Amino acid sequence: MSAGTDTAPSARLLGQDSANAALFFRRWMANPLQMGSIVPSSRALCRRLVAHTHADADQIVVELGAGTGVVSRALIQSGVAAERLFVIEIVPDMAAHLRQALPGAQVIEGDARRLPQLIAQELHGRIGTVIVGIPLVLLPLAEQRRFVDAIEAVAPGRGFILYSYCVTSPLPWKKLGLTPRREAWTPLNFPPASVWRYTPV
Ligand SMILES: C[S@@+](CC[C@H](N)C(=O)[O-])C[C@H]1O[C@@H](n2cnc3c(N)ncnc32)[C@H](O)[C@@H]1O
Repeated sequence: MSAGTDTAPSARLLGQDSANAALFFRRWMANPLQMGSIVPSSRALCRRLVAHTHADADQIVVELGAGTGVVSRALIQSGVAAERLFVIEIVPDMAAHLRQALPGAQVIEGDARRLPQLIAQELHGRIGTVIVGIPLVLLPLAEQRRFVDAIEAVAPGRGFILYSYCVTSPLPWKKLGLTPRREAWTPLNFPPASVWRYTPV
């Protein structure tokens, strides 16, 4: 019997979690602002994100800033077909990691501010949910607006969900022309996190 089949599923998951945490921490050391956190999202937070992700049969799901892919994996495990999941990641070695970790998913290495160029034209308007993992809260307003505009260009009127450690809205929604809604909260994340939905006014 091979070592792979000897390994209990829970031990494999633990190994995967540690490898993800190590990769995440290395990237945080390299660029804390780009990562926004020192650890990947918890399973509790992933469950809440999954619960607020919707896509019809002819729609795709787009995740911006997929990091180690913990949210992406939870989406696939919840039934989102891998080929309908488009993950955008700016850091080349994380994108390479995602390609290995998410067989079948559409991993696109690039800057999410260029979303209209990164997603094929025929998919514009066919996006069920956009999930933002990029720490927008740390960016100046003009930069936040670039992300919001890029999302609006490919998913008109749909808005996006975003996770954050802020108790109040992490985005200045009035200035960005958005309506905020706090959809969920979990204390079982480090730090405790909320899922926010923003839709164009
Ligand atoms: C908070 S981390 C992602 C967390 C991920 N959900 C996890 O738990 O592993 C933010 C990610 O966004 C990526 N990122 C930051 N700016 C980006 C941009 N402009 N375009 C695409 N990805 C970006 C970072 O490289 C990082 O992997």
